[in-house]
Amino acid sequence: MSAAIRPEAEQDRAAVWSVNQAAFEGDAEANLVDALRDGGFAQVSLVAEVDGEIVGHILFSRVAIITKVGPVDALSLAPMAVLPSHQRQGIGSRLVEAGLEACRESGHRIVIVLGHPEFYPRFGFSSDLARRLESPFGGGEAWMALELAPRALEGLEGRVEFSPPFGAME
Ligand SMILES: CC(C)(COP(=O)(O)OP(=O)(O)OC[C@H]1O[C@@H](n2cnc3c(N)ncnc32)[C@H](O)[C@@H]1OP(=O)(O)O)[C@@H](O)C(=O)NCCC(=O)NCCS
Repeated sequence: MSAAIRPEAEQDRAAVWSVNQAAFEGDAEANLVDALRDGGFAQVSLVAEVDGEIVGHILFSRVAIITKVGPVDALSLAPMAVLPSHQRQGIGSRLVEAGLEACRESGHRIVIVLGHPEFYPRFGFSSDLARRLESPFGGGEAWMALELAPRALEGLEGRVEFSPPFGAME
């Protein structure tokens, strides 16, 4: 059973909501996806499909790194979800890999994530790379960054400003 990864389409909205609701066991992340999409903040949104059913989803949305010399564009990887029945089969990893590739192809240079420290480093995310980026949500080891372009984070220091829909998550 292999999953097909493809960009989210308009008619996927309800299925994407359900996958997020099931994976997070609540509505907050599912509603966050809708708010990010509706607010125009979503940049890359991919789904994983098995036998015509959407079983996974990943979203990258715009954030700004507020530095002393002005804002720098970046992306936030959040949320991502795989149906509990389909977890630990590599689908989440394929969504991250395909998602990062799509972000790179669109010219994005920096991605940040606040997530499982045992999962994201395998794709190149590092809490060390994020050490000069201030997170409004804290995070410690879970606060990580990745460079899609070489040295994109070199010399960069500042506060990461999330889009308004994330405010509802605090
Ligand atoms: C995290 C998640 C997207 C991973 O998807 P997946 O298809 O299971 O991922 P893969 O099979 O490619 O990789 C499995 C890895 O995910 C991580 N993982 C899976 N379930 C996890 C859980 N409940 N808590 C923490 N990490 C988990 C582990 O690091 C695991 O690695 P391992 O199998 O080597 O131990 C999925 O488990 C999920 O939807 N979880 C609930 C929602 C969530 O936490 N989203 C991410 C928010 S940062």
